[in-house]
Amino acid sequence: MRCRVCDGSITQLFDFGRQPLSDAFLSPDDIEHEFFFRLAVGVCDSCTMTQLLEEVARDRMFHADYPYHSSGSEHMRRHFEQTAGAFLQEHLSGPDPFAVEIGCNDGVMLRTLAKAGVRHLGVEPSGGVAELARSNGVRVRIDFFEESVAAEIVAAEGPADLIYSANTICHIPYIGSVLRGVDALLAPDGVFVFEDPYLGDILERNTFDQIYDEHFFFFTVRSVQAAALRFGFEVADVQRLAVHGGELRYTLARAGRREPTPAVAELLAEEEARGLGTPAAFAPFAANIESISTDLMKLLRELRADGKRVVGYGATAKSATVTNYCGIGPDLVSFVCDTTPAKHGRLMPGSHIPVRPPEALAEPYPDYALLFAWNHAEEIMAKERAFHDSGGRWILYVPKVHIV
Ligand code: SAM
Ligand code: TMP
Ligand code: ZN
Repeated sequence: MRCRVCDGSITQLFDFGRQPLSDAFLSPDDIEHEFFFRLAVGVCDSCTMTQLLEEVARDRMFHADYPYHSSGSEHMRRHFEQTAGAFLQEHLSGPDPFAVEIGCNDGVMLRTLAKAGVRHLGVEPSGGVAELARSNGVRVRIDFFEESVAAEIVAAEGPADLIYSANTICHIPYIGSVLRGVDALLAPDGVFVFEDPYLGDILERNTFDQIYDEHFFFFTVRSVQAAALRFGFEVADVQRLAVHGGELRYTLARAGRREPTPAVAELLAEEEARGLGTPAAFAPFAANIESISTDLMKLLRELRADGKRVVGYGATAKSATVTNYCGIGPDLVSFVCDTTPAKHGRLMPGSHIPVRPPEALAEPYPDYALLFAWNHAEEIMAKERAFHDSGGRWILYVPKVHIV
């Protein structure tokens, strides 16, 4: 396997072994057809891009039944509303602006632009969530964004002033095709803004569960800058975001068109000082993954031996890596609560722990709830205050195993 950005050689960092697809929630009669792949991560010796070593075919992951709904979190709805508001002021205030979103999901961001009457288009391959976006008044093309699709869009609708993407660019191994597509579609002074989990935060917070099939790349400013330069762009701004355990929002412009903000050089210097992107920077993280796995299994086995009831909370894609790497099954965590209707009555990938609606938490309250959706901790703990008040306790496993 060579680097998907620069074709350089790759140093392997971790191998999590055979893993299922993180969003493939099974109906009980699907178990024998379950798909597995090798989840392993490496870092490019040349451009420092951290990436998976094995790629899963895109239509196995993103299809009509893709179950992740972006609007499932109140906090994320607010985040995308604010994002859209900022775009309206900063990038979409000229005459008849045009905005394209790559991976618009259920329209959580674009519906604000649609309400403001801004010309827009979402490109979203997963038909189910794309239909939800349409029902929210959002224009969507059901397709994978890539070079040929971008060429068709620009021919039909003209250049885009803004191309935006959240939690999607890191999902796309064919990043060269995406950046050539952005080049074809973007207006000369347009910007390409995207936000994804930041490798610097993943290593600092030990959030190893960010590693799963859909998360193909783990970006840094340095690796994104290297990729951008290959396709005629440069990083004009970076902004740290607190969502999903720590992300970076990158603003790319055509090289030489915008003076980069001081934040770019500052974060590049910080990455350099940390050695981020070198294999050595991953050593403490690797050791911490092992401690988390050992400590979590010890705790869950002790609780079972003491006759305590433990359930999970949040059937996240991330939880597939935790349950399958650590070896957590229904014997330790009897079910997982989740708000997403499409996940109810299904089994978690690989671990086969049943998923039930959130109301199941109180029937009756368990002794402990293992919070897989740790990135939504504040929102979930607030809505489930009665569980904690009744003596129930939350188990968290990042940055280390602890109980609150
Ligand atoms: N932007 C939303 C958010 O931040 O909540 C959705 C993120 S979701 C994790 C990733 C989305 O990217 C999915 O809806 C998936 O269907 C979509 N996707 C995957 N590959 C894509 C591609 N090549 N072009 C456009 N969307 C893609
Ligand atoms: P995410 O971490 O990828 O955003 O996934 C969050 C999952 O947690 C998703 O399946 C929805 C679920 N969830 C709840 O069950 N209750 C909640 O209050 C929130 C915010 C999310
Ligand atoms: Zn490379």
